[in-house]
Amino acid sequence: MKVAPSLLSCDFAKMGEETARIDKAGADMIHLDVMDGHFVPNLTIGPAIVKAVRPYTKLPFDVHLMIEHPLEYIDAFADAGADIITFHVECADDPDKTIERIKSRGILPGIVIKPKTPACAVFPYLDKVYMVLVMTVEPGFGGQSFMLDMMPKVTEIKAEIQKRGLDVLIEADGGISEQTVGETVKAGVDIVVSGTGVFKANDPAKAIAFLQNAV
Ligand code: DX5
Ligand code: ZN
Repeated sequence: MKVAPSLLSCDFAKMGEETARIDKAGADMIHLDVMDGHFVPNLTIGPAIVKAVRPYTKLPFDVHLMIEHPLEYIDAFADAGADIITFHVECADDPDKTIERIKSRGILPGIVIKPKTPACAVFPYLDKVYMVLVMTVEPGFGGQSFMLDMMPKVTEIKAEIQKRGLDVLIEADGGISEQTVGETVKAGVDIVVSGTGVFKANDPAKAIAFLQNAV
């Protein structure tokens, strides 16, 4: 299992140092949650902050766009140093165009679904994306409870990927900790995002290692 700690739970006054700290603790990539106050009822960071944090680690930046118009901002996040950009299938822009724009910048595209969106919503894009992100909480805030009932969706998407002989990763995001990671492994998740579970742990290295080795 790969682990992507979410900076949403870090000390925002020290984002650079926090990124370096979690890199040293053994993270596989860094998850950055971008919120616009429209698509979700919260505001977080934009491209300027992503760019400012970029020099603090060489790990891939997994940028999760919870914004209404991702297409308008792909170039800005590409310039800021994103390696993976995921956007929601429920957004206002055309997913095909958005995927194309991400790819044109040499970045790996991913598509995200909210808890109420069925698995089949991502099927038209499976042959074009690097990953599918299945939300295991309502997007907007860290520290919420893991929704176990999202696991059948992971299994369904995984089965479709295998049926078509594709090589697409599945990421899960929200409420993932030592208590819940086992369920994601069982369902076939490849990458877990963890905010609170890593940044608020007494020993983040131990927390990351636990998630990485979960069975
Ligand atoms: C929620 C974000 C998640 C969140 C995860 O909208 O997409 O990345 O920060 O945080 P935890 O692990 O605390 O649920
Ligand atoms: Zn996220």
